[in-house]
Order: sequence, then structure tokens, then C-alpha cells
Amino acid sequence: MPVRLKAVIFDLDGVVTDTAHLHFLAWRQVAGEIDIEIDEQINEQLKGISRMDSLERILRSGGVAERFSQQEKDQLADRKNQLYVESLKQLHPGSILPGIAALLAELRKSGILVGLASVSLNAPRILDALELTEQFDFCADASKIQRSKPDPEIFLVACAGLGVTPEECIGIEDAQAGIEAINASGMLSVGIGSTLSGADLLLASTSELSLPLLLSTRQNNE
Ligand code: BG6
Ligand code: MG
Repeated sequence: MPVRLKAVIFDLDGVVTDTAHLHFLAWRQVAGEIDIEIDEQINEQLKGISRMDSLERILRSGGVAERFSQQEKDQLADRKNQLYVESLKQLHPGSILPGIAALLAELRKSGILVGLASVSLNAPRILDALELTEQFDFCADASKIQRSKPDPEIFLVACAGLGVTPEECIGIEDAQAGIEAINASGMLSVGIGSTLSGADLLLASTSELSLPLLLSTRQNNE
């Protein structure tokens, strides 16, 4: 018996809205202030990774990981967050990526639950700015997550919160670490972005997302 699709679980940054770029701009400024240059390639590795883990990677890329005390690292992470939160003021419902609002509406109409699995502590304020809070049936609380993606923890927490099993879900991600987290959770994975690997369905853009496409991907993978 095929298992019915009961829920779709979304990553936020880079899937629902283009905050991945705003994270990059804030990190680039903070890194520049301690003489580390970061490029889009390093930024790819920061996607799906918690704030402190991102800072550790940036410091390692500059070969200065040992030079900073925990207190200094906390200050750098706070500074990045201040810049990032400031940049979030530009978000509004028009900042939702193409195809996402229509997909959320289709899911609601079809009785398919919608979950959020973002490790961002800023997720509630971002959903608020996009006026999307009501569209999500359950948002995993990033402050209670112990392990960043690629660990499946946050996707499993989202499943449990929605009252569904991973086999009944599809996860959507723009980060390689996120695709690995979805796959490890046992859900079907949809990747957004041509550089990703290992996704059950890979799309170049969110504009290609639709419920019929998700349903046919499940059929093909049964
Ligand atoms: C993820 C982003 O969604 O959230 C990462 O992909 C980011 O780049 C992480 O580091 C944590 O975000 P925040 O808003 O808590 O600093
Ligand atoms: Mg993302």
C-alpha cells in the first residue's frame, strides 16, 4: 500500500525567502572586520549550519580559530546577528520566493500539513515579516535543537510536532547539509539549487515547485 503524503516540511532561509544572501552579507562584514575574506563558496558551507558553527568555519577558513576566546566568539556572533536582524527589516510578503505562496495554499487546500525545520533563531520574526506564520502547522523550535544539519534532528522534531512519520513527509532544502539531514531522517528530499547532490528531486528554482510534482516524485520513489 503506498503511504499517503501527509506533510511537507520546509527549510526557511533560501527556500521560503532569500535570507541566505542576507546571512552572507552580514558574515562578510564581520569577517572583514577581523581581516578574513569570505566568498560565496564558503557561504555555501554555512547554509543550514547554526550561527556559532558558521563562525567557527569562518575562523578556520582564515586560519585563526585558536586566536579567539569563547567570549570574543560570542561577541562576533552577536555582532553578525545585529547586522543580520537589521537587514531583515527589508523583508515583506513580496520577499517570499516564487512558487512558495502558491504551494503553501495548495497544501492547505489538500489537507496536507506544513512544517518548518529551520535552525535559525530568527525564524519566527522572518515568518512574521513575510506574513506566513499562520500558514505553518508546526515550526520546530531552533533553540531546543542540539545538533545542526546534516543531523536529522530538526526534521524529526518537525515530524513529531506534526504527528506524522518521516515516510509520510517530503522535506525541501537549499543546503547540502539540509539534503543530508532530510535523507538521514527517512523523508523524501527536494533540493533547490543546481549545485546540490543526493536529493530525490532537484529543482533549479522554487518556481518549479507544485503539489502535482511532489506527488509524482513520491510515486516514482515508491
Ligand atoms: C540557517 C541558515 O537557516 O540558519 C544558516 O541556513 C544560519 O546560514 C542558521 O547560520 C542560523 O541562523 P540565525 O538566524 O539563528 O543566526
Ligand atoms: Mg536554507
